[in-house]
Amino acid sequence: VTAEKAGFDHFMMKEIYDQPKAYRDTIGSRISEDGSRVVLDEIGMTADEIRRIRNIHIVACGTAYHAGLVGKSVIEKLVRIPVEADVASEYRYRAPIITPETLVIVVSQSGETADTLAALREAKRSGARVLAITNVVGSSVSREADDVLVTWAGPEIAVASTKAYTTQLMAFYLLGLYLAQTLETLEQAEIVRTLAAMQSLPEQVESILARSEEIKAYAEKIASHEHLFFIGRGLDYAVALEGSLKLKEISYIHSEAYPAGELKHGTLALIEEGVPVIALGLQTELIEKTVSNIKEVTARGGEVLGIAYEGDNELAKSVDRTFSIPRTLDLLSPALTVIPLQLLSYYASLARGNDVDKPRNLAKSVTVE
Ligand code: AGP
Repeated sequence: VTAEKAGFDHFMMKEIYDQPKAYRDTIGSRISEDGSRVVLDEIGMTADEIRRIRNIHIVACGTAYHAGLVGKSVIEKLVRIPVEADVASEYRYRAPIITPETLVIVVSQSGETADTLAALREAKRSGARVLAITNVVGSSVSREADDVLVTWAGPEIAVASTKAYTTQLMAFYLLGLYLAQTLETLEQAEIVRTLAAMQSLPEQVESILARSEEIKAYAEKIASHEHLFFIGRGLDYAVALEGSLKLKEISYIHSEAYPAGELKHGTLALIEEGVPVIALGLQTELIEKTVSNIKEVTARGGEVLGIAYEGDNELAKSVDRTFSIPRTLDLLSPALTVIPLQLLSYYASLARGNDVDKPRNLAKSVTVE
């Protein structure tokens, strides 16, 4: 068993450390050798079919849904097609407006999640084309979808999803750029710049992992707390949701993710002396706004860990401590910011003596609706 875990104590930690390779494998040969285009031969849609897409629905559960929220922002920004993201168990029952011009993207690590599979079938019945992002070749989702974009994360054993999420992000970046190059919604130079930044991500993840002790120390500090908050704006909020789910799932610490600007509409009432708050500030245009939300927290005694780009003194000045992230494009930052949050939930779970790989009440693959 230790061999399977490659010398790590838990599958989750092994899988966190697998991520640089998983990013490389998922990008693989999907970027042309000269770094100028995305090559997605596995997608059967013709350019004409892509031009006919009027709207996109992203449907998934849990962590895969959180990847979908990032996917929504990425596609809307790069392609300017309206995208809705839904939790699969809600999607089916809200009578979504699906037409033959709708592209439905289902996201599932296992490819066997019952709610996601049911949503896929519903979408196909309504005449939509369905594209699946999945980690398991031959899974039900991969067999039933029209097109399949495989995430090459390798087997994910731990219940808490890590490398599946980050490779789903890679799939969305590739897909967004592919649609953009087909529809010519993005300057060629911008495509080249984004692809180059994507190729730097694995090394940047390695540099974050090399500083895991910083997160371990913070995790041990917050492990005795019962409540914690994550705040962020835009893509940072999407990552905050994932950080919060991960922490709840394996450490059993209650946490909530909030859009930073929304705190003062209610949740700020819960902030008092010593309450830990993790603030993500990687969306350059929004950092100033996030800093003012951080000040609302610190003024009430909340203790803030800021996650910021290296050299971002403005955010660093407003918080109690900072964990820095190497510079990348804001659009790609979720692929880096989630890493310290994964480590945080791992070390907090460990400090509380929980079974990291098999959290109570949960199953790896949820095959009941
Ligand atoms: C994440 O840590 C979870 N264990 C869970 O939310 C999971 O992502 C969800 O059940 C969806 O699974 P799938 O990707 O296999 O469909």
